[in-house]
Amino acid sequence: MAQVTVIDHPLVRHKLSLMRDRERSTGEFRTLLREIALLLAYEVTRDLPVELVDIETPLQAMKAPKISGKKLVFASILRAGNGLVDGMLDLVPSARVAHVGLYRDHDTLEAVQYFFKAPGDLGDRLVIAVDPMLATGNSVVAAVDLLKQAGAKDLRFLCLLAAPEGITRFTEAHPDVPLFTAAIDERLNDKGYIVPGLGDAGDRLYGTK
Ligand code: URA
Repeated sequence: MAQVTVIDHPLVRHKLSLMRDRERSTGEFRTLLREIALLLAYEVTRDLPVELVDIETPLQAMKAPKISGKKLVFASILRAGNGLVDGMLDLVPSARVAHVGLYRDHDTLEAVQYFFKAPGDLGDRLVIAVDPMLATGNSVVAAVDLLKQAGAKDLRFLCLLAAPEGITRFTEAHPDVPLFTAAIDERLNDKGYIVPGLGDAGDRLYGTK
């Protein structure tokens, strides 16, 4: 059974409301995405295992908890995923970063890969795939397919906003991958946009359009 977690925190809700506002400037939107990403990363990593290691404080030796295992991988689904990854790296600077580039074929509406670069030992690491918007789910399903083909076994998916249609598509395709989102909106419109949503996350992040 797929696990879906809504990260419900007053700061996350507040910042998301600011981001939804069409009057928000590109710079403000980018800053807010970075800030909210840090809060979301905090929740997504809440259950990471720790191990006790020997350290010395200025006063005495002690056993102190540190996150165990290999460094995390944040997998950015281009291009808007980069906006989330930037904030997550503020919190976990040692994380490795994978990039997955996909575009939508206008005829088939299928996601087509144009770029993929990831650490070689994905199978030994927790991989957190990120894309701000879970709309139809086609891109993220394809991205997680590619990450699994590259060896990833321990995966999570983090987004900012999800449509119910995207959640169904994703959890049916990848029931083994826990999904985290800051909010679940009403629906998709006939152009595949989340409503009420926040518009095109990539355009708002980079000032394109
Ligand atoms: N991608 C976006 O950036 N926004 C949407 O509403 C849907 C997909």
